[in-house]
Amino acid sequence: MSIALKTPEEIQEMRTACRLAAEVLDYITPFVQPGISTAEIDRLCNDYMAKVQHTTSATLNYAPPGYAPYPASICTSINHQICHGIPNSKPLKKGDILNIDVTIVTPQGFYGDTSRMFILDDASILAKRLCKVTYECMWLGIAAVRPGAHLGDIGHIIQRHAESNGFSVVREFCGHGIGRRFHEDPQVLHYGQRGSGSELRPGMIFTIEPMINAGKAAISELPDGWTVVTKDRSLSAQWEHTMLVTEDGVEVLSLSASCPPPPKLIGDPLASATNAAIAALPPAPLS
Ligand code: MF3
Ligand code: CO
Ligand code: CO
Repeated sequence: MSIALKTPEEIQEMRTACRLAAEVLDYITPFVQPGISTAEIDRLCNDYMAKVQHTTSATLNYAPPGYAPYPASICTSINHQICHGIPNSKPLKKGDILNIDVTIVTPQGFYGDTSRMFILDDASILAKRLCKVTYECMWLGIAAVRPGAHLGDIGHIIQRHAESNGFSVVREFCGHGIGRRFHEDPQVLHYGQRGSGSELRPGMIFTIEPMINAGKAAISELPDGWTVVTKDRSLSAQWEHTMLVTEDGVEVLSLSASCPPPPKLIGDPLASATNAAIAALPPAPLS
């Protein structure tokens, strides 16, 4: 496995790509309410990418080996859906929890990838707690990123936090390197042993995107060939950021004006000035 170290020019392009992906989520947030369909959300996001940003969707017609082309510009995964949910015409309803995952490509050919949970009114206490703990898992993983740390440190802290809250970690999907390609080395597992896996070096860019289930970890796939659900039909949540390993820590690239700040349990482990500033923002309630 060889993990690319990005050049300063590539890093600058990735800052732009990842911010643009996050800004699609900022844009769509006020529309995510009971009554709107995920197909409508998909159409709005596609128009925003094309007409406002002049970006394109990385997911539309994406066809890795063994898969039919993915038919939408975003992924929308509701309730017991884990990831890769395909937008459809069914209206969202009160109590739903929903992941929207956005990957854009800039005109310069760089990919930015980020996702957030949306909690509709009247969601259950369990649903809200699952979203909150999953968000904490992602940020604990981010806080473990620095030169000299290992990929397994990220997986370990995520698994520990999820399981100590009675939840389980999905094993079949992981974070990934990203740049001029959607998915590249390394694979960033959301479980594992401290000190295992590749050592992190400045210039690496990858995602952390834990998928956490309220019930058991097992998955199944729907006949549409894409949608992944919990086998026991328990709720599932996911958050995703793209980040850069810096000389002294981590820089989260997929931040934007309205993205939620790090959770309270993340104190000062974020070393870089950028993230120290973000960490100083008041925490936004997730519920
Ligand atoms: N954005 C997803 C990720 O985080 C991948 C979606 S692939 C799709 O890696 F085809 F389902 F859209
Ligand atoms: Co994604
Ligand atoms: Co990703």
